[in-house]
Amino acid sequence: MRKLLFSLALTAGLALGMTYAQTITVAAGAVGQELELTRDAAQRYMDANPGVTVNVLDTPDGAGARMGLYLQFFEAQSSEVDVYQIDVIWPGDLAVHFVDMFEYGAADVVDAHFPAIVENNTVDGRLIAIPWFTDAGLLYYRTDLLEQYGFDGPPQTWTELTEMAQTIQDGERARGMSDFWGFVWQGNAYEGLTCNALEWQASNEGGTIITPDGVITVSNPNAVEIIELAASWVGTISPSGVTGFMEEDARNMWQAGNAAFMRNWPYAFSLGQQEGSIIANNFDVAPLPAGDATGASPAATLGGWQLGVSAYSENPELATDVALFFASYEEQKIRAIEGSLNPTIEALYEDPEVLEAQPFMGRLLDVFTAAVARPSTATAPNYAEVSAAYFNAVHSVLTGAEDAETALALLELDLAALTGFPTD
Ligand code: GLC
Repeated sequence: MRKLLFSLALTAGLALGMTYAQTITVAAGAVGQELELTRDAAQRYMDANPGVTVNVLDTPDGAGARMGLYLQFFEAQSSEVDVYQIDVIWPGDLAVHFVDMFEYGAADVVDAHFPAIVENNTVDGRLIAIPWFTDAGLLYYRTDLLEQYGFDGPPQTWTELTEMAQTIQDGERARGMSDFWGFVWQGNAYEGLTCNALEWQASNEGGTIITPDGVITVSNPNAVEIIELAASWVGTISPSGVTGFMEEDARNMWQAGNAAFMRNWPYAFSLGQQEGSIIANNFDVAPLPAGDATGASPAATLGGWQLGVSAYSENPELATDVALFFASYEEQKIRAIEGSLNPTIEALYEDPEVLEAQPFMGRLLDVFTAAVARPSTATAPNYAEVSAAYFNAVHSVLTGAEDAETALALLELDLAALTGFPTD
């Protein structure tokens, strides 16, 4: 009898459990330590919410490839993924596939985040995604090598960077470091090149491709000049293979001790400092250099990732709860300390533990708050095409297939056809 009762109870329990056990799947990034950090957060959510399973789905590193995967889920109106990690450039292009998080309680927490990012993520009054971490391009440099070669500090201009990189590279090669390069960055034909090239342009008074109010400005002498300079790096201070590099390719070369300078996002900081890293304590970060044009000042492209809830999720309420948990103060704090992923909650830039673990976050706060946006809001829902036209044009200059003046003149025509916008 006891046995029967027990098994009845067990069956009932299982049935109940089946009704109440809920699963939320989060499609997340896996660059550097991202995946591991997200899995840890999922575990903390599950510990606090028995009965909920949070799966973390690994997605491709390249922003374009990741968006391709997401589009497959969206086209199938699939409920398989509930929460998507989306790029700061995507809310406009992908708005229709997300719920309005304001309807699920995000209004209470959104004020703590940088207003510019919240605005970026708000499309027609709907909050497409909650900010999770923010990015800006930084110049990583080897403090030991700069000192060794008699430089006082990081370069202020791209011309200085070119010269310093060449000097250090020549010196390191001469002492047998045959794999050593002056400067590594992201030159593959993908979204990362749009970020790098926008920094070159904007830092040389060459504009931001398309203005926020929809004027195409990309074809101008200052842009031509700086893209030609970047093309001159390929095969001299940067490996020829840089035209196939994404973030992790650059970081691997840098972290192996084989580069004097690197352009990358903040995530590379904590990896470089990790135990066992041969460059630990021998590098620092600074704002990227400026061009030589009159009035030029440094520019960092605004990057970063948000969490949006799929319009096809079967449980948008719970999915929002998971997303808001991931994006909360405590969770962003852990990612900042452990992974040097920059918070989107302003108060974390005054949190002593964050500042102690990642002093650069406080020191370079201006770089993060003044970062230059890609023209994704102005060109939505066609930003992905606009960016592809831009990075392909720049790539053709980097590989020597085209000169910058011609490439940008042709690009201007393509962008006009694509957007219907006027040129300046
Ligand atoms: C980083 C940025 C993102 C950008 C991507 C390009 O992940 O956060 O905004 O699009 O790099 O590779």
